[in-house]
Amino acid sequence: GFTPRVFSGIQPSGNLHLGNYLGALKRFVEMQNNGIESIYCMVDLHAITVWQDPADLRNATRELAAGFIAAGLDPEKSILFNQSQVAEHTQLAWIFNCVARMGWMQRMTQWKDKAGKNQQNASLGLFAYPSLMAADILVYHATHVPVGEDQKQHLELTRDIAIKFNHDYGVDFFPITEPVIEGAATRVMSLRDGAKKMSKSDTSDASRINMTDDADTIARKIRKAKTDPLALPSEAKGLEERPEARNLVNIYAALSEQGVDAVLRDLGGKQFSEFKPMLADLAVAKLAPISEEMARLMQDVTEIDRILQNGAARARAIAAPILDRTYDIVGM
Ligand code: ADP
Ligand code: NA
Repeated sequence: GFTPRVFSGIQPSGNLHLGNYLGALKRFVEMQNNGIESIYCMVDLHAITVWQDPADLRNATRELAAGFIAAGLDPEKSILFNQSQVAEHTQLAWIFNCVARMGWMQRMTQWKDKAGKNQQNASLGLFAYPSLMAADILVYHATHVPVGEDQKQHLELTRDIAIKFNHDYGVDFFPITEPVIEGAATRVMSLRDGAKKMSKSDTSDASRINMTDDADTIARKIRKAKTDPLALPSEAKGLEERPEARNLVNIYAALSEQGVDAVLRDLGGKQFSEFKPMLADLAVAKLAPISEEMARLMQDVTEIDRILQNGAARARAIAAPILDRTYDIVGM
């Protein structure tokens, strides 16, 4: 058996938002507080599979680290570091490039989406991305990975790589990592379009609440969020055909740590003109302290860099023996 260990990564590609907070950071902090050994990585090597301006990348990496810490991640308890500082990730990824098959990669829907029509012009790194992700996870023998719906297929590929490696070399060396799937309530949708996920890459800033937004900006974006003319229903079933309304109620439920039904039992019958200010107050109460703490941490980037270096050293202490053993198994 393998010791339970959680790994997850987030790309430092800027615009950290409420979806990242509710769907990732807040859950990571809960796992840490449940006492599970947790390793969190800023995956800068994944970020550069599409063009990143160097100064922006450096800043986004520090800002993401500040976001983790401001959200409650304790860099003494958990391991928080930057992917490019632990070379074992790329070293294991090469081995996995030789285990994974071209056809497996070609089937990845994210590859097809991100490369678009002009696959010949996409980076080789974008194509091989899932192999590096498998290495990120397996270089720590991580048993559990919290993933969004969009990463499920990549985790499936991680499992396929572990199975093929173990089979090809006749070992039981890599664990078959389990996904920890987020609930529907933690999937935050765009404030401008209930059919789209809230995303860093959305060109409309009004579509998302950024973790760096101040109180006034948060309140304004919620006031302007798209809704419908109906009142809030008294149970979740009443939100089924109302994606924008459902999204705002989901956000309220997640921020107040209640179920949707409990929220609607209290607030059913209210108009959005009344509900939106309540949601704005709640969002400001929960998020403004985080954005203030992020801003404070960003004033001392040498301290952030020191925390990340310390995290990288602790990560390497786990990864290096696993890579050594992998090389040994492969005959190197
Ligand atoms: P984005 O999709 O904005 O580019 P990432 O892909 O870097 O963000 O996601 C980082 C983490 O945040 C992942 O764990 C992902 O599941 C989570 N996440 C991203 N967007 C959302 C969202 N809208 N709702 C819930 N979780 C999200
Ligand atoms: Na994503």
